[in-house]
Amino acid sequence: MKVYNSKEKISETIFSVKAENKSVGFVPTMGALHAGHLALVSKALEENDIVVVSVFVNPTQFDKKTDLEKYPRTLKHDINLLKALSKNNIIIFAPSVKDIYGEKIKALNIDFDGLENEMEGKFRPGHFDGVGTVVKRLFEIVNPDNAYFGEKDFQQLQIIKKLVEKFHLSIHVIGCEIYREESGLAMSSRNERLSLEQKNAASAIFKILKTAKEKFASQSAKKVTDWVVKEFTKHKLLELEYFMISDVKTLKPINRKSNKKTYRAFIAVFADEIRLIDNIALN
Ligand code: PAJ
Repeated sequence: MKVYNSKEKISETIFSVKAENKSVGFVPTMGALHAGHLALVSKALEENDIVVVSVFVNPTQFDKKTDLEKYPRTLKHDINLLKALSKNNIIIFAPSVKDIYGEKIKALNIDFDGLENEMEGKFRPGHFDGVGTVVKRLFEIVNPDNAYFGEKDFQQLQIIKKLVEKFHLSIHVIGCEIYREESGLAMSSRNERLSLEQKNAASAIFKILKTAKEKFASQSAKKVTDWVVKEFTKHKLLELEYFMISDVKTLKPINRKSNKKTYRAFIAVFADEIRLIDNIALN
């Protein structure tokens, strides 16, 4: 298993892989890998000759300093998990902050045609500038044919597709479905920080999403949203930040239901200071 820290060295290696006409898949991560990440890597392994997994906790996408500081860093364990998937076909890229940003840790200001202003963008100002900046940088270094992103962060997936379109990159962006714990809770590196009690409580998030989906078949978005808000008042360990039913293309909140449009429900919930997000396809 090759682990690279230097961007020059990994670029060189990938250049020679591509010279042999081999395809390169890419799974960007912030580490603390779990089964959700590994599902992305497995899909990438099926569809490419070589898969690059980056492990980099990107400082510019955190709006809260404590969240950045508390983000789990488990590189050794991550390497072992990836080794179990493939010893020969995975390359790990674990750069330093300096490698990616140089001396100035600063995000670019990127226009994603308004996708960046909804939901996560609204509640975490600057978040998508940080994500866009690091993914653009990583794409330049890795130069993959295919890049894999989870629908768990559906808004991020749409933003990366927009990034590729805006910068005319010849990278195929592939979305992968949400991987869940048995309880239905979407897997997340942040789940490690939940107490057992909080974790049990958090399983309500997906249950509520599923019921919201059922209700949306016959009720208005407003009615469904009011029901969700009320439902969360019953859960003392959870605090709803937002619930929104949006058009998957624009990510703008629904105005009037249309059969021609595709909708998804998006949710962000706090368990203490731990922020959890999830979403579900509605039609
Ligand atoms: P991270 O949260 O580590 O997630 C890395 C990738 O794994 C993302 O594409 C994310 O959507 C996907 N993922 C996480 N949990 C998942 C789950 N339960 N099911 C399916 N996919 C899941 O997302 C980031 O890192 C960063 O923003 C990054 C893109 C690496 C840029 O810094």
